[in-house]
Amino acid sequence: MNFQNKVALVTGGSNGIGRATALGFASHGAKVVIVDRDTAGGEATAGVIRQRGGDALFVQADVTDAQSVQAYVRKTVEAYGRIDCFHNNAGIEGKIAQTADYEEAMFDAVMAVNVRGVFLGLKYVIGQMLAQKSGGAIVNTASTAGLMGSPGMPAYVASKHAVLGLTKTASGEVARQGIRVNAVCPGPIETRMIQDLQKQLNPENPDKVAANYRASIPLGRYGTADEVANTVLFLCSDIAGNITGAHFVVDGGRTSTPGAVTSMNR
Ligand SMILES: NC(=O)c1ccc[n+]([C@@H]2O[C@H](COP(=O)([O-])OP(=O)(O)OC[C@H]3O[C@@H](n4cnc5c(N)ncnc54)[C@H](O)[C@@H]3O)[C@@H](O)[C@H]2O)c1
Repeated sequence: MNFQNKVALVTGGSNGIGRATALGFASHGAKVVIVDRDTAGGEATAGVIRQRGGDALFVQADVTDAQSVQAYVRKTVEAYGRIDCFHNNAGIEGKIAQTADYEEAMFDAVMAVNVRGVFLGLKYVIGQMLAQKSGGAIVNTASTAGLMGSPGMPAYVASKHAVLGLTKTASGEVARQGIRVNAVCPGPIETRMIQDLQKQLNPENPDKVAANYRASIPLGRYGTADEVANTVLFLCSDIAGNITGAHFVVDGGRTSTPGAVTSMNR
């Protein structure tokens, strides 16, 4: 994979999976723009890239706000002239509650970041890529929650199903202009988000939740942010040139063989 002379934009790049992707793009030669609402984390990620001899810029933005999204696109183009790769990744998990108890404001908050934020990113980055007339590659972060239900997470599950719908639709719209649009579907990944979910599910004993999760994963462990980032880099690279409208699952086998591990161990 070679991203020399390419410009990569990563939302949610201050932490977790987005941070790993930003560092990965930079290590393969890209100039990187990190977008996030977390300024400290974003500046830290950009600082690491610069320390390693790379080129990076942090842009503070709320992905739910159209003006912020237009501004991060504009600032990227002002700094580096173009956008070649886009990891449309910022997301939140929301609260755990069953559908009958789920607070409407929380539903709206999750949909705002995970669906509206992804939609706005697609809208304005695709607009820029079309104007450049030289193609591009986009990866949206969905989740295995975009492929199956998950009791207690109605908003998150609905939002991630929507991300796959946006991915498929946009991919067909811009394929002839050389813009590829794919999605990545991580399972449980070792970041702040999974730790928050564990605490919500069992505040007294989050490690028990982690043990149960791990027991449901054929590979027997959480994935790492780097493992998701590697998939995003692959999908953004020229070696994935014939792949568009697809989703790649990075979940240690959890969705492909539900129950397999427990039945094997019986
Ligand atoms: N960790 C997992 O187990 C897992 C599994 C499947 C999918 N995902 C998805 O991966 C993506 C990244 O999550 P993560 O695990 O790295 O979590 P994370 O919380 O470490 O990172 C998410 C980042 O998004 C940023 N963000 C949130 N709302 C924002 C907003 N309105 N505007 C700008 N930035 C905002 C946060 O500040 C944070 O830096 C999310 O879309 C998440 O749904 C994570």
